[in-house]
Amino acid sequence: MFTPQGPTLRELAVQALSSVERGYDLLAPKFDQTPFRTPDIVLDPVARTLRSSGPYENGLDLCCGTGAGLGVLREVCTGRTVGVDFSVGMLQVARGEEPTASYVRADALALPFAPAFDLVVSFGAFGHFVPGQYGELFSQVHQVLRPGGQFAFPLPAPARPGSRGYWAMLGFDGVMRVRNAVWRPPFVMYYRPFKLSDVRRELGRTGFDVTLRALPELGERPDGSPRCRLVVATRR
Ligand SMILES: C[S@@+](CC[C@H](N)C(=O)[O-])C[C@H]1O[C@@H](n2cnc3c(N)ncnc32)[C@H](O)[C@@H]1O
Repeated sequence: MFTPQGPTLRELAVQALSSVERGYDLLAPKFDQTPFRTPDIVLDPVARTLRSSGPYENGLDLCCGTGAGLGVLREVCTGRTVGVDFSVGMLQVARGEEPTASYVRADALALPFAPAFDLVVSFGAFGHFVPGQYGELFSQVHQVLRPGGQFAFPLPAPARPGSRGYWAMLGFDGVMRVRNAVWRPPFVMYYRPFKLSDVRRELGRTGFDVTLRALPELGERPDGSPRCRLVVATRR
């Protein structure tokens, strides 16, 4: 999963003992060599799906990191593309990789934008929010979208209980809970709580109509359901 060009175990440990913001500042130069960067095998089907419902005018990549989602926005948006993240280090790398986008340093829970966007995407970042924050997060996105604008993000199906993925995620979340119980500042990163049923209910409560698009390129589960869906929430 990690390459020789990626972070060392020591660097990862230092990062994991920092705050989320500081941790990503430290990881930024090597972030693209880690499995945490959303890979093209996920970005490409999302771009293909959004192309069929686009084009959109202005696009925002929420928690953009080094800019994985900005390539998607470049493909489907005709106007401005903006990346927002609270890590200066990640924004610096993104600026080098996608120089045509604009970048804003801000907390996703306090977005400093008017309702100017037609599309907001987000990849790989929801684990940094606890369930009690989903409502505020979605209402921030709602406020920066124009009426009829869309918030789109891929959501993998939960791992089957007893599978390797299930135990890996359970183990990871367990380690993070212990770490956060004994160490300050906290590093919030939990894989399991961001579940479709809760997310759907919270998006509806915030003022979105939700539809799901299958991403067939990402495969099927044994029961034939998609391994990953694109959640498309439209501002009423
Ligand atoms: C796992 S990285 C994902 C980066 C990129 N979206 C990708 O898919 O490769 C998570 C990103 O979320 C950012 N982030 C986490 N919490 C945030 C918050 N409250 N406000 C803004 N950015 C946040 C981190 O700084 C980091 O860049």
